Amino acid sequence: MTAQIIDGKAFAATVREKVAGHVTRLKEENGITPGLAVVLVGEDPASQVYVRSKGKQTVEVGMNSFEHKLDADTSEADLLALVDQLNNDPTVHGILVQLPLPKHLNEDLVINSISPEKDVDGFHISNVGLLGTGQKSMVPCTPLGSLMMLRDHHGSLSGLDAVVIGRSNIVGKPMAQLLLGDSCTVTIAHSRTKDLADVVRRADIVVAAVGRPEMVPGDWIKPGATVIDVGINRIEREGKNVLVGDVDFASAKDVAGAITPVPGGVGPMTIACLLANTVTACCRANGLSEPEGLTA
Ligand code: GUN
Repeated sequence: MTAQIIDGKAFAATVREKVAGHVTRLKEENGITPGLAVVLVGEDPASQVYVRSKGKQTVEVGMNSFEHKLDADTSEADLLALVDQLNNDPTVHGILVQLPLPKHLNEDLVINSISPEKDVDGFHISNVGLLGTGQKSMVPCTPLGSLMMLRDHHGSLSGLDAVVIGRSNIVGKPMAQLLLGDSCTVTIAHSRTKDLADVVRRADIVVAAVGRPEMVPGDWIKPGATVIDVGINRIEREGKNVLVGDVDFASAKDVAGAITPVPGGVGPMTIACLLANTVTACCRANGLSEPEGLTA
């Protein structure tokens, strides 16, 4: 048996189309153009690539993109002042501060200084609490994209056994909350988990988000399970620089029922969901109904 490949690239394109449709409607019917501000501190090469990509896609769906690039030695006070300015700017509906921040800046403090309503990353403690209690919130982009693909594949997730490998604030924990919200039986596994192979073997849904290249082999996967691979790891193979996930795709695809590839799986969904969250934030800010099909 060979797994169905879940095409995140194509799925992300449909999400962006929906976003673009909502943007057109907001402009024509309400005279509002959604705006996303992205703040990058320093020159981390991977972050520069992401920020450029975010800006480009924001403009492509018809939204305003505001990029703020600050020196690596920017003071915390100056960064907080910028966030405050963006919080108070009515043309800005979403604010994203690219992580990681340089070591001298307190990430928690900076993230929690963003207005929760504009926190399109869903990292503010207020949004974390709202998600954890099943209230309307901004939902982190990578878990939201993963959930959309799972719902599309399964229809209902109710009663399924889900294992999330990884307990980060950005992916693992919010992913677990979303799966719980959809009535899965959720296990969060991590580096200290005993008998990880046995835990994974019980799962109908496996979400791998640990950042360790190909650490989940095919023989850990329950036959027919759905595998969402969040990992993006750069490794050397046969003298070439290649991208691989946290799951060993070559062996897993012969066991799983469906699997996301790397690249072309979860990756493209993250920015698409960032754009979706910006439209959602814009609608909420203006007292308009939630954009259909773009929220959890
Ligand atoms: N760095 C890596 N992933 C993310 C993300 O989803 N949001 C932000 N702000 N920074 C990141």
